[in-house]
Amino acid sequence: MGNNLLKGKKGIVFGALNEMSIAWKVAERVVEEGATITLSNTPIAVRMGTTNALAEKLNCQIIPADATSVEDLENVFKQSMEILGGKVDFVLHSIGMSPNVRKKRTYDDLDYSMLNTTLDISAISFHKMLQVAKKLDAINEWGSIVALTYIAAQRTMYGYNDMADAKAMLESIARSFGYIYGREHHVRVNTISQSPTMTTAGSGVKGFDSLVDFSERMSPLGNATADDCANYCVVMFSDLTKKVTMQNLFHDGGFSSMGMSFRAMEQYLKSFDGIKDKDGNIIYG
Ligand SMILES: NC(=O)c1ccc[n+]([C@@H]2O[C@H](COP(=O)([O-])OP(=O)(O)OC[C@H]3O[C@@H](n4cnc5c(N)ncnc54)[C@H](O)[C@@H]3O)[C@@H](O)[C@H]2O)c1
Repeated sequence: MGNNLLKGKKGIVFGALNEMSIAWKVAERVVEEGATITLSNTPIAVRMGTTNALAEKLNCQIIPADATSVEDLENVFKQSMEILGGKVDFVLHSIGMSPNVRKKRTYDDLDYSMLNTTLDISAISFHKMLQVAKKLDAINEWGSIVALTYIAAQRTMYGYNDMADAKAMLESIARSFGYIYGREHHVRVNTISQSPTMTTAGSGVKGFDSLVDFSERMSPLGNATADDCANYCVVMFSDLTKKVTMQNLFHDGGFSSMGMSFRAMEQYLKSFDGIKDKDGNIIYG
């Protein structure tokens, strides 16, 4: 049930592919809180995914765009202002993709043209979005822009590959642009660092099930779900967080502050059972 936290606000949600997408949950929640929105995703995702069903359910329009194309982004912002009847109050960037991950290229054997694509789609698209929005003066004063990120930007996580570099860049863009956008238009720019979440993009990461289980055991509050993330986005888009900007906000059940938990230790000890020699020494392989 909504609390009208976003009553009268207008927003753009990028990246809802299917029901599992974090952006999907965010779109549902912001509308529940009284916002009117447009949706955007790549033309192929709109054709192949189920974004149309979401648009129908929420009674909103989809504006297809490749987020690496400045022209496409200009179209999204211009059309959104037309459809929504004025400047936008919030934007969600929920976009990520690595061809190196998809093609199972390891971090010490990256294809550099694929790395460029990873960075363009997953990080530079955020800069393009911000630059386009600012040049078109498309965001209202005290508007709020959020991009989703992951803790692999700060700490090495097995299998996250070149997406870690993309996320580090994404978070840096939020700070660098957040300074300028805040100074000139009071627009705030933040990233939310979300727990591993079972989605199409998430499940592409090597050993993702184990990663979800590990962080669940490490986090005192357990992993944050996509629904939890949607709630946090609502707060970040609302007027209750007007002075929060240029931050990377961990939304991870406490994972980022943990070193070792009881639950993880128990599992860790169990996992040695099969790999000890007859004298009980661990065989490292
Ligand atoms: N799932 C997780 O574990 C997790 C954890 C932390 C952060 N995130 C981040 O959350 C965001 C959303 O991912 P998700 O987990 O909901 O997965 P998802 O696969 O549902 O969403 C990724 C979206 O990116 C879109 N996309 C890809 N290339 C694009 C392009 N060129 N232009 C526009 N859109 C494009 C896809 O169509 C898709 O809708 C990503 O930034 C992801 O890195 C996810």
